Order: sequence, then structure tokens, then C-alpha cells
Amino acid sequence: MINYKKLYFSALISLCLVYLVIFAGGTVRMTESGMGCPDWPKCFGYYIPPTNISDLKWKKNHYYKNGQIIIKDKSLLVAYNDFISSESIDLNNWKNYTKHDYAEFNATHTWIEFVNRLLGALAGLSTLILFIFSLKYINKNKILFLISFLVLIGMLFQAWLGKLVVDSNLLPHKVSLHMLMAFLIVFGLTYLLFITSKKTFNSIIPKKIKHLMILTFLLLIIQITIGTQVRQFIDIQIDSLGQEKKDIWLELAPFKFYFHRSFSTLIFCSNIFIYYVFKKNNWNIYLLNLIMFILIVEIIIGAIMYYFSFPFSSQPIHLLLSALLFGIQSLLIFNIYNPLKKTI
Ligand code: HEM
Repeated sequence: MINYKKLYFSALISLCLVYLVIFAGGTVRMTESGMGCPDWPKCFGYYIPPTNISDLKWKKNHYYKNGQIIIKDKSLLVAYNDFISSESIDLNNWKNYTKHDYAEFNATHTWIEFVNRLLGALAGLSTLILFIFSLKYINKNKILFLISFLVLIGMLFQAWLGKLVVDSNLLPHKVSLHMLMAFLIVFGLTYLLFITSKKTFNSIIPKKIKHLMILTFLLLIIQITIGTQVRQFIDIQIDSLGQEKKDIWLELAPFKFYFHRSFSTLIFCSNIFIYYVFKKNNWNIYLLNLIMFILIVEIIIGAIMYYFSFPFSSQPIHLLLSALLFGIQSLLIFNIYNPLKKTI
């Protein structure tokens, strides 16, 4: 039996970092910090972003590097080359930033977005290390190598999507695509965790229950997809009503919100039934305990958002819990069906 300890821990660390990035992404959205860095991958053209608006105002006798940004007359100007400014601004040294017309600076937003990007970079690095470790198994276990490769490509694609999101000034459907991609990465990493871990269980589970578990997993995927639609609706409400009017964001809620809310009852019922069957038969219930706990908290947070007007952090927590549920249910499904683990 091959020892995958290094790969297992590498996948686990990558997964934890991806969850951190998901939470940070939710916090960016909640605090409306998405445009805290108007460009990408740098922030106002800097590796470490400015802390004060004075850093973004034109200064005389100042050394500017190619790509650095200033705010002038409510628009962004980008330095053409490296140069030292003279006594007055020479517009020949500057070009207009054309990808969008958002030109505001808020130090808190900038740093929240910057930390989000740093975590993203850290998660990217971690998946690169995972991929390098997997090279060792290229002949012995091709699936392992292939999934590590796909996760790495997924992270690179995700970084590029992040750029598209900023360039589009946070278009709601691009934000959703960015989020769904994060879930795919969670899926890949969970599979790696599964094939590199020593334990598998529950091969005795009858087919009917297995099918019900797959169905329950599909219900969760539908719920997550509808959830992103609800989020897109909320984004539009934020644009038109502003953060201060949280209490009326859902006043004229569309059908998809009520569907999302009621659908959680169905998800809860199917999960509780599976939980009951596992408990009755004395099967390994560890993952199901976790699922039930997270599901209940998720539904409570959903209700708190609705009845108590989106209190602080409720949105990123709702998002993070859905990603955790998705990851743990994926792991459960892998354990039940045991796909390709026999190649080990
Ligand atoms: C199985 C349970 C549930 C799951 C898995 C789930 C999942 C999700 C997901 C993935 C999103 C999108 C988050 C984002 O893109 O940031 C979302 C949004 C939302 N969900 Fe749920 N949800 C569940 C239950 C509920 C319940 C019971 C309610 C209300 C009573 C609710 C209310 C909302 C609201 C208001 C949003 C928009 C949040 C925002 O603007 O950040 N959810 N949900």
C-alpha cells in the first residue's frame, strides 16, 4: 500500500485555504470592498496597496513606476513608464484607465480586498505544491496526478475569473460564476482527500439508500445554484437601495427566494432520514453528524438574514457553510461509491 501522507496533508491544507478564500470573498462582498483594488493583479499598480488617499494624488518631483495609478478629477490615470514628475502634471506620462470608471479610494475596502487576494495567492501556491507532490505518483496513480493538475488549472482559471469580475465592476453573474468555480475546486480537493486517506467505509449500504444519498447531494447542488440567484437579486437591491435599506431588500422578494427557503425543508427531511437509517444500522455516522449540524446552522442563518435584515457577517457565514456542506457531502458520496480508489 502506498503512503500518501504528504499528499493528504497538502490537499487538506489547500482545502482549508480555499475555504478561507471563500469566506474572505463573502466578506469582500458584504463590506462592498470588491472594487477596493480597481486593477488586477496589482492594487492601484502596487504590490502592497496604499493606505492613504494622499498616496493616490499626483505629486510633484515624485518617482512613478509604470502601471502605478493616481486619482485625478474622479477618474483613474495610469503611469505609462517609469518617470519622475516635474512641477506640474504632464498628461503625456499618463493614460486613462479604461476597463471601468470606478475611481474611489477607501483604505478599509482596499485592504479587505488585498487580504482576499493574498489568501487567494496562498491557496494557489498550496495547490501548486500539491501538484508537485503528485508528480511522484504519475506512473503509480494517474488519477491522483490528473486531479491535482485539474485543481491547479482550476485555481489559475479562478484567478483569471477574479480579474474578469473586477474588470466588469462586479457584474452579478460573473460573481456567481466565480463562486461556482470555487465549489468545483472544493470538489476536486475533496476527491484528493478521499483517495489519499486510508479510511473508507460503508460498502454494505444498500443500493436504495445510496441512490437516496446521491439524490440528496443533487438537491444540495440545486439549492446552492438557486442560492446564487437569490444573491444576484440581493446584489441588484444593494445597487438600487443601498446598504442602509437592508430591511427592505427582501420586501418584494422574487419567487426564487421563497423556493430557496422552502427547498431547505426538503433537504433537511432527506438528510434526517439518511441520518436515521445510518444510526439505526450502526453505520459510520461521523460525516452525517457534521452534515446535520452544519445544515441546521445554515438554515438558521438563512432565517436570520431574512427576519433580522442581514446582520453583520451573516452573508459570508451562509456562503461558507454551504461550501462546507458541499465538501462534506462530496466526501460522503465518494466514500459510499468508492470511485477509482481501487487503483491505489
Ligand atoms: C440547505 C440550506 C441552504 C443552503 C445550502 C443555502 C445556500 C445558499 C447559497 C450557496 C447562497 C449564495 C451565497 C452567495 O453567493 O454569497 C445563498 C444565498 C441566500 N440564501 Fe440560502 N441556503 C440555504 C437555506 C436558506 C434559508 C432557509 C434561507 C432563508 C430563510 C436562505 C436565504 C438566503 C438568502 C437571503 C441568500 C442571499 C444572501 C446574500 O445576499 O448574501 N437560505 N444560500
